[in-house]
Amino acid sequence: MKKTKKPFINWEVLAQLVMDSQQDQQRKKGIGTGYGAWDDHAAFYDQMAKMEARFTLNQINCFDTDPYDSVLDVGCGPGRITVPMASRAKRVTALDSSSKMLEYCMKNVKEAGLTNVTPKLLDWHEVEPGKNLEQHDIVICSRSPGMKDIMKLSKLARKYVVLINWSNNAPCIPMIVGFLFDGTEEEDDEKQRVKYSCRDRRLGNNLLYNRIYDLGFNPNLKIVEDGFTKVFNSREEAYEDLRRLRPNMPANKMPIFKKNVDKFLAENPDGSFTYLAKTKTVVVWWKPEIEE
Ligand SMILES: C[S@@+](CC[C@H](N)C(=O)[O-])C[C@H]1O[C@@H](n2cnc3c(N)ncnc32)[C@H](O)[C@@H]1O
Repeated sequence: MKKTKKPFINWEVLAQLVMDSQQDQQRKKGIGTGYGAWDDHAAFYDQMAKMEARFTLNQINCFDTDPYDSVLDVGCGPGRITVPMASRAKRVTALDSSSKMLEYCMKNVKEAGLTNVTPKLLDWHEVEPGKNLEQHDIVICSRSPGMKDIMKLSKLARKYVVLINWSNNAPCIPMIVGFLFDGTEEEDDEKQRVKYSCRDRRLGNNLLYNRIYDLGFNPNLKIVEDGFTKVFNSREEAYEDLRRLRPNMPANKMPIFKKNVDKFLAENPDGSFTYLAKTKTVVVWWKPEIEE
């Protein structure tokens, strides 16, 4: 890889300002990073990943995958991206700093009948390209802390780096789940949640694209339909299943919760019900070569 170009605008400084404020918000919410920090969220993300499975294909269809490719999934979580990529590529390294997330990931890999995934328990911040982590053909970083480290990701990739993030102002997971539990929690917590979740991503996504471009790469960008969906035999089955997303909701809040869920349920001709919450995702990918 050649030396990076000198940027015309200092995007790095602007990006740092945005990231500092995002990290502050995350710290206030008690969302950490590093070993074990996400263990308690593993079951929740596993449930969400399964409901997003159909739409996840829109994201990985943006770029080419060959059957002989090796793939690195940074912050793989329960394997939302790892599992479908493992069925397209030769092998996947699933990296995460949460052993619980990796447990779910490997369970899902097994259930999909795949044997070509290697779990790697490693904090992204400790990754040293070429020392404790080798190059892969495709390096994917989806909604995880590695997204800001453009050069580090590029050093790890031979063919593509792929970033996956929520699109500008599109609801993210805390917001999508928040719609279902609206009015079932203490006002203060809820206000805080909405404030955190509704964060405007226009500046962050623009900065990300411009930083990649200014470093000399040629980034591609596509905004794809995203969403969470599941078919249930009855409304009651839907309530019971979706309630697992916040198991501590008091029983007396059930009527509010049911009304919220009903807004996202549509009855099918065979009497079943489909839950569907729509959103949008942005996929940015580039070849890790710098043009003169
Ligand atoms: C929001 S989840 C995204 C999961 C998955 N990539 C997806 O798109 O569905 C964030 C993931 O990043 C992982 N993570 C957080 N900090 C990390 C770090 N410092 N190193 C490696 N993984 C980390 C978490 O454990 C979690 O699995």
